[in-house]
Amino acid sequence: MSGSAERVAGSRDRKARRSRRLPADLQGKVVLITGANSGIGYFTAKALATAGCLVAALDIAIENLQVLAQSMPERVLALRCDVTGEEQVTAACESVAARWGRIDVLVNNACVSLYQPFEQRTLESFAHEIDVNYLGYVRMIRAVLPYMKRQGHGLIHNVSSGIGITGFGGASGYAATKGAIEGFTRSLALELEKYGIVCNLVHPPLVNTVSTKPLGLPQELMAKAEDVGWKIAKRMLCTRPVVTPDFRTAAFLIVARMFPAATGRLLTRMTAQASSRRESGPARAP
Ligand SMILES: NC(=O)c1ccc[n+]([C@@H]2O[C@H](COP(=O)([O-])OP(=O)(O)OC[C@H]3O[C@@H](n4cnc5c(N)ncnc54)[C@H](O)[C@@H]3O)[C@@H](O)[C@H]2O)c1
Repeated sequence: MSGSAERVAGSRDRKARRSRRLPADLQGKVVLITGANSGIGYFTAKALATAGCLVAALDIAIENLQVLAQSMPERVLALRCDVTGEEQVTAACESVAARWGRIDVLVNNACVSLYQPFEQRTLESFAHEIDVNYLGYVRMIRAVLPYMKRQGHGLIHNVSSGIGITGFGGASGYAATKGAIEGFTRSLALELEKYGIVCNLVHPPLVNTVSTKPLGLPQELMAKAEDVGWKIAKRMLCTRPVVTPDFRTAAFLIVARMFPAATGRLLTRMTAQASSRRESGPARAP
């Protein structure tokens, strides 16, 4: 490796190490996070547990979470829970309260996303996205609210997406659910502040996960789920109305809010171009 390449790699490593330092006030906080078996949710849960949080990690599939729980049994509770089932959601919150006595933070993160032209979609596919991405958040908040009210404090992070502001061709259902989360969260924040409960939006950048795989974007254009998970964990106690993991995402959101239609058109075009370049590229071994 040349001297300058070494310097660049060294500075990247130092930056990554710095971004892995987590605030001491996370110690002992009880955080419940949904959709935690993969992607951003998994790495956020892992970073939080590493920082000393007591993490209840919920998902419909929990094989990765069970391994995490084995490595940090005092700090991770892996719970199978489908956020479309009210009884399952209530039971999961009861288990967390029984184990740790309170719920300080809820991270509504579970999602499903379908990338398909509107005309090819079924009504059921829209209903499912709404059930998980919107009503799933509503169910979780209804279930944690009695605990947070009793405690006199609580922090609810609703994970949203820039697509909910700009729209995205081929993701009408997912974008609609994220748009719903925006208005829902801002309204709820106003209702819950009298109980000492903060409700805000979390906006991750474009991240390479199961959800974004169907977009066919080159990996270089997407952030790593692990990096984003650590950055979100770092801001876990942030009470701003909109939480972003980094400056670039904050800047993107400003542009998206100022020029939503143009940004949505640009994102859709760039994605279509990147996928067509990929398809017309050299054949790859299966
Ligand atoms: N990946 C991105 O580029 C991106 C960008 C902006 C916002 N987001 C948001 O970040 C969050 C996480 O996204 P991701 O890309 O890590 O997703 P992902 O697909 O990697 O993970 C989603 C998780 O939700 C779980 N899940 C699905 N249905 C569920 C249900 N009914 N009950 C419980 N769990 C269920 C899945 O099993 C999975 O583990 C989502 O809210 C998403 O909208 C992602």
